[in-house]
Amino acid sequence: MADTTPPLETARLRLRPFTAADVDAVHGYHCLEEVARYQYWGPRSRDEVAAEVAKWTEPDVSPDAPDSIVFVVTLKDSGVLIGDMVLLFRDRDARQGEIGFSFNPAHGGRGYATEAAAAILDLGFDRFNLHRIFGRCDARNRASWRLMERLGMRREAHFREHAIFKGGWDEEFYYAMLSREWADLRRGTN
Ligand SMILES: CC(C)(COP(=O)(O)OP(=O)(O)OC[C@H]1O[C@@H](n2cnc3c(N)ncnc32)[C@H](O)[C@@H]1OP(=O)(O)O)[C@@H](O)C(=O)NCCC(=O)NCCS
Repeated sequence: MADTTPPLETARLRLRPFTAADVDAVHGYHCLEEVARYQYWGPRSRDEVAAEVAKWTEPDVSPDAPDSIVFVVTLKDSGVLIGDMVLLFRDRDARQGEIGFSFNPAHGGRGYATEAAAAILDLGFDRFNLHRIFGRCDARNRASWRLMERLGMRREAHFREHAIFKGGWDEEFYYAMLSREWADLRRGTN
């Protein structure tokens, strides 16, 4: 169940909670094979997207300790929806979070996903006092791991043939950032 968090603003973007009116725009890219290829879901039908959006618009019963926070990412100037971001709270005691992202390829290659992900790292470390935020991706998902490297996250692991993913062996990278590493990057001392 998702938290309802106030919108976040970056130089070019506004990250806000999902609404029922977002279904068509989200379906516009969740239906694409290239967006679903390395996700734990296949290209989604409109009904499947509507069911997901219904979950993401439910208010969390405990907003101070949510399971996850989801945002749609919109262009500040036009309001056009270009992607979605999630921050999952994985371990309360150790203050571990996980980041996830999906963007419409029509708006790729302009640094929007990197800008949105940086806002999510700020949120996780500053508002929720997380100690470490990690991201996982298929080793073949170059755009995803390059994004995490652009943010300054470290490659911590390469799991080789450790699971079956969509009928074949899974090769997975783990990337992570510690709170103090992010603070150093933000101060420009790293
Ligand atoms: C992962 C994903 C979000 C990355 O998208 P992206 O367009 O590569 O990322 P960005 O929006 O940050 O854009 C980065 C590109 O814009 C360029 N760029 C242009 N202006 C920029 C700016 N102001 N700041 C940063 N980068 C900029 C970068 O150089 C980079 O280009 P390059 O790949 O040619 O080096 C996208 O590929 C996606 O949604 N994939 C499908 C879903 C998915 O697999 N999600 C991850 C599951 S683990």
